[in-house]
Amino acid sequence: MKALLKILYSLCWSNAYLILGICMGLSFSLFLIPIDVDKQHDIVESFDHSLNTLEDIDPYEPRINTDSKPQQIQKARKAFVRPRYYSTELGIREKLFVGIITSREHLHSRDVALNKTIAHIVDKIRYFISIPEGTKPNVSFPGIVGFTDTRSILKPFHALKYIVDNYLESYDYYFLTKDVNYINARSLVEFVNKITVSQNIHMGIQSEIDTYCSLESGILLSNSVIREMKNNLDWCVKNAYSDSDDVNFGRCILHSTSMPCTNHIERRNLTFVQLKSTFNFEKDFAQLTEQNEFQNSVSIYPVYDHKLIYKFNMYFTAINSIKVHKQISDIRKVISATAHLGPSNQRNISWPIGNQPGNRPLGRFDVLRWSYFNMSHVFFETDFINIQELKGDTKTDIDNVINTAVNNIISKYDNKLSFVRLLNGYLKFDASRGMDYILDLVFNEVATSKEIRKRIEICKPLGKVEIIPVPYVTENTRINIIITIDLSKKQDAVNFIEHYSQNCMEKKCKTYLMVVLLYNSDSPSKGKGDVYLDVKTYISMLNEKYKKDQSKITWLSIRLPVNVTSVDLDPMLKIAVTDLCAKKFSSESLILLVETGTKLKIDYLNRVRMNTINRYQIFSPIPFIEYHPDIIYADEAAAHDEVDVNSNYGKYDEQNYNNIAFYIKDYNAMRQTVEANIPLVRSDKDIATLLKLSKHSPVASLFEMYVSFSDMHVFRAIEPTLKIKYKDVNCDDVSNDNIYKNCLKLRNNHLGKRSQLARLILDYQSYQT
Ligand SMILES: *[C@@H]1O[C@H](CO)[C@@H](O)[C@H](O)[C@H]1NC(C)=O
Ligand SMILES: *[C@@H]1O[C@H](CO)[C@@H](O)[C@H](O)[C@H]1NC(C)=O
Ligand SMILES: *[C@@H]1O[C@H](CO)[C@@H](O)[C@H](O)[C@H]1NC(C)=O
Ligand SMILES: *[C@@H]1O[C@H](CO)[C@@H](O)[C@H](O)[C@H]1NC(C)=O
Ligand SMILES: *[C@@H]1O[C@H](CO)[C@@H](O)[C@H](O)[C@H]1NC(C)=O
Ligand SMILES: *[C@@H]1O[C@H](CO)[C@@H](O)[C@H](O)[C@H]1NC(C)=O
Repeated sequence: MKALLKILYSLCWSNAYLILGICMGLSFSLFLIPIDVDKQHDIVESFDHSLNTLEDIDPYEPRINTDSKPQQIQKARKAFVRPRYYSTELGIREKLFVGIITSREHLHSRDVALNKTIAHIVDKIRYFISIPEGTKPNVSFPGIVGFTDTRSILKPFHALKYIVDNYLESYDYYFLTKDVNYINARSLVEFVNKITVSQNIHMGIQSEIDTYCSLESGILLSNSVIREMKNNLDWCVKNAYSDSDDVNFGRCILHSTSMPCTNHIERRNLTFVQLKSTFNFEKDFAQLTEQNEFQNSVSIYPVYDHKLIYKFNMYFTAINSIKVHKQISDIRKVISATAHLGPSNQRNISWPIGNQPGNRPLGRFDVLRWSYFNMSHVFFETDFINIQELKGDTKTDIDNVINTAVNNIISKYDNKLSFVRLLNGYLKFDASRGMDYILDLVFNEVATSKEIRKRIEICKPLGKVEIIPVPYVTENTRINIIITIDLSKKQDAVNFIEHYSQNCMEKKCKTYLMVVLLYNSDSPSKGKGDVYLDVKTYISMLNEKYKKDQSKITWLSIRLPVNVTSVDLDPMLKIAVTDLCAKKFSSESLILLVETGTKLKIDYLNRVRMNTINRYQIFSPIPFIEYHPDIIYADEAAAHDEVDVNSNYGKYDEQNYNNIAFYIKDYNAMRQTVEANIPLVRSDKDIATLLKLSKHSPVASLFEMYVSFSDMHVFRAIEPTLKIKYKDVNCDDVSNDNIYKNCLKLRNNHLGKRSQLARLILDYQSYQT
């Protein structure tokens, strides 16, 4: 501190004359120049003032600039909070907002028609209706805004107020219109994309008064005009005394911007087409299409019958489709014409021209599979299936592809061929390109009945990639982990809890563990004789140790019915246990079911938090399971403590549905829908009823129950940090046939890789001989 003062002192001293000079200068200037106390004078005024003074004063005379001096202490700058989207930071807006001024009587007709024909093309659309408080429109779709004020004269201003309050920052252009016209949205979007955003726009068709636009056909306003109107909204409402909305609204725009209505800007015309009052679609439409500018018109009015909207839309969509096809073929011509100009290794043109060429395999392991098919079956589609019947969508798709190819060939040969059969079919899916087919088709020449074979290649390219918006989640949610143990798994449970305490309680990872203890019908559960006494003591000890950290372990005791000792294999029992646990949590809790043999990792827990979304999505990871240690570690000195994710040691088990995460609210909702078929378990005694159901096995897992009985999204993906140690599967006490079969399959699939098992068999055979 002292050293600092010293330095400061010496600095001041060495600059003493300078400082003194500045001080004197400042005080002189204070004497000489009158201080302007009233800083709020007009800009124009001060400009004049400075002009005058400049003339009197010699421009070379030195003057002291006292503006903003002495400097004020700068306020500590606030930390800059980066917005979520770069468009917010840069002030980038979307292009077009469309507001339809309509009424609830027309929602089901005109507005549905408008919604179907334009909502997907413009950036945002809103339907403004007035509706008395407490009532509801009888149709509903996104975008309806109701005003309880039913004075129709004010409706355009309510709409304006709504736009100002909600969407002032978000759009460049606003198109306000009544519901009695057909809007050619593509043309409108094209128009606003071509004009500059830096000018005021007030465009439309002149109404009865020249300077005002007609709301009936639509008014295009720029963001800047809406901003001006925002400041004058009160004036506008006060002066809305005319019966005509056009006049009231037009007066408001004119008052705010002094810009009259126009239909052209930068030598571009905004075209509106007015229909005769006697317009008859069948008779007059052809004539209408011959009119110049009809194809570029943005609005056709008045249209009172909503069916006309669909008819107009049909026409404009067809025109657009022709335009797009022409563009594509033009681009293809350009690509073929210019391909030879490219670098020598890039001169090949992909087929179809301009489409993604598809994946080029780097090695022999990356070659994509061509699957062979005939009309009814597909062969070797995956490594595990030899032949599979074509069903449902796949069948429809293949029929469709064959039909298209056949029709194409027949029309190309002027109907001189007739189709006989499909000889060979091959299909390949490439995620970077789409679906490719090769078809060998057999035809008959009609005249000579000679057999002709054609090979056709077909590509179905991928369509537009869409990003699906998903609700926002955070990594802060507390996870309630549930593990179920029976008497045979006591040691596994203790291992799990030990690992949990080290990794989750110690590191405070915001979790809560519930251990479900399953008692056989005859095992003691009280006092010293309690079969789970050691587990309970261990849990109490841990709770005592981590008392401060808000991380707790609890247990829930459930008594199983007679002759049942484990819930591993029977899905109904698992559901029963989940029912009983769910009762213990509040509806906003996030639940994660885990199985023994797992070690919970932070990464996994975070993925559970991100992938499980309240009222939207459940998450069921596919774990990596270890094969039998005696088989996989036969050649190694010691078993690995942790399984390596490697096909020699285990596999991702697609059949494993034991790990699943969901919110209690969603669980309860789903359970309610199936309660009639699978009754809710409210106490231990109800388990037996549910058990009886498992003979017909209505569902195979909790996951399947979500898939079948709820419209929640289900997310299932491999999870590399969820590894499960090998567990012996015991199928001896299973009475149910179905479950027994599944159990055997499970047991066999978990032993080892096919090559390892084959080697064992060969070893065994050679040992015997
Ligand atoms: C809604 O009400 C209108 C009359 O206002 C009626 O014509 C229409 O059929 C109703 N729509 C539905 C879906 O009930
Ligand atoms: C209205 O349009 C939206 C967006 O295109 C669509 O999701 C919705 O299904 C449409 N509703 C009706 C009734 O057409
Ligand atoms: C715009 O319309 C005017 C007449 O209203 C016409 O003379 C002019 O050629 C049109 N401009 C364009 C670019 O179509
Ligand atoms: C271009 O096509 C020819 C024959 O179709 C092929 O031999 C060559 O390898 C291709 N070149 C590239 C760079 O793909
Ligand atoms: C497709 O192949 C399977 C298996 O060879 C055969 O059973 C089926 O009849 C074939 N379907 C047709 C339409 O030829
Ligand atoms: C339990 O199993 C025993 C022997 O397998 C059998 O005799 C008895 O009926 C079973 N009890 C119930 C309730 O199923």
